[in-house]
Amino acid sequence: MDFDPTEDQKFLQQTARDFAVREILPKAAELDKSARWPTEIVQRLSELGFMGMAVPSDYGGAGLDAVSYVLAIEEVSAACASTGVIMSVNNSLFCDPLLKFGSPEQKQNVLGPAARGEVLGCFGLTEPMSGSDAQTMATVGQLQPDGSWLVTGSKNFITNGPAADYILIFAVTDRSGPKVKHTCFLVPVDAPGFTRSPKDEKLGIHAAHSCTVYLENVRVPASMVVGRVDDGFKVAMASLDGGRIGIAAQALGIARAAYDKAVAYAKERKAFGKPLAELQAIQFMISDMLVDIEAARLLTLHAAVLKDEGVRHTLESAEAKLFASEMATRVAHKALQIFGGYGYINEYDVERHYRDARITEIYEGTSEIQRLVIASMMLKEV
Ligand code: CAA
Repeated sequence: MDFDPTEDQKFLQQTARDFAVREILPKAAELDKSARWPTEIVQRLSELGFMGMAVPSDYGGAGLDAVSYVLAIEEVSAACASTGVIMSVNNSLFCDPLLKFGSPEQKQNVLGPAARGEVLGCFGLTEPMSGSDAQTMATVGQLQPDGSWLVTGSKNFITNGPAADYILIFAVTDRSGPKVKHTCFLVPVDAPGFTRSPKDEKLGIHAAHSCTVYLENVRVPASMVVGRVDDGFKVAMASLDGGRIGIAAQALGIARAAYDKAVAYAKERKAFGKPLAELQAIQFMISDMLVDIEAARLLTLHAAVLKDEGVRHTLESAEAKLFASEMATRVAHKALQIFGGYGYINEYDVERHYRDARITEIYEGTSEIQRLVIASMMLKEV
């Protein structure tokens, strides 16, 4: 399998890097400290086509591939992990499912504007009592005589929730058989009965706002069902196959940023009469960090290449997400250690990377869920 980027992919990567270094990085520490939603950066992401990267140009997207998406998310996340996940959720968990499962009308009216960045989307799967065990959700959709649905329930930790214009809501629509069935609904946030909590206060990714959303008998017309009625769990799982590639790329960006800063610091800071970089203890840490990052990048690109080939990539996405997220925590931990006390205060960005890395092991499926997915895929083949 060839992982070398094409000329077009290299150009896209350089564009993303220039943009991230020039327009995101100078603001990243302030965004983290103030927990400010980066309105002007999201606007620029839209202008660059980064909010609907893999959406075909017919629908207003950039018409790029998953490899380009990984390269761009890594660059953006190296500057600001909050911006990386805002972009990732709109691309992977909103545009992708609409592209794959949406009706022509949904594509025209909602996917197009979302891909152009005119509206923002988010993904409502998790609930207060249903996270990893997603099928046990309590939100319900009840079919009405006129063919519409009344949806009631709540969803929490919804990244992009406070700023979103639309949300994909997963709800139980049939409990009569041996298997509970779910349906995916496309809900505008101004629908009567839809409300949101204030934004969550979090350990990291402060500028990527999340919240709880509540639905009280929200009427959803039949035309806003995404995919087939009672087939929504597969919509959720297939979306997460793509989403996990985005989070792996986000983790990669965070780790690379921490690594680059640690290497620069190790060359400059002296201890025992020489730069830290000449101490073997530090050299070993730097070597381990680099190997970790390179391995995560290959796993992430592998999953992206399979996605581009139209091959099922559930296993490879889980592998990439599992390894890259745990790698980001390891690398940020070592980077902070190299900085010593300076890593623990917020003068340098390393403590931000350390906090931001941690979420990648949790959202879009915890590391434990990735291990379950990997084991179930492998054991199925035995
Ligand atoms: N693609 C398509 N279909 C899939 C699939 C996939 N990747 N994975 C499972 N399915 C199908 C199965 O084939 C099965 O279909 P049938 O009923 O027809 O046989 C059905 O879905 C149920 O599958 P399982 O029996 O494997 O389901 P399960 O209940 O054992 O759960 C799980 C599987 C992997 C644990 C799943 O619940 C899961 O992924 N949990 C984690 C949820 C998660 O990632 N949440 C993140 C929230 S989003 C988020 O974090 C966004 C954000 O804010 C950044």
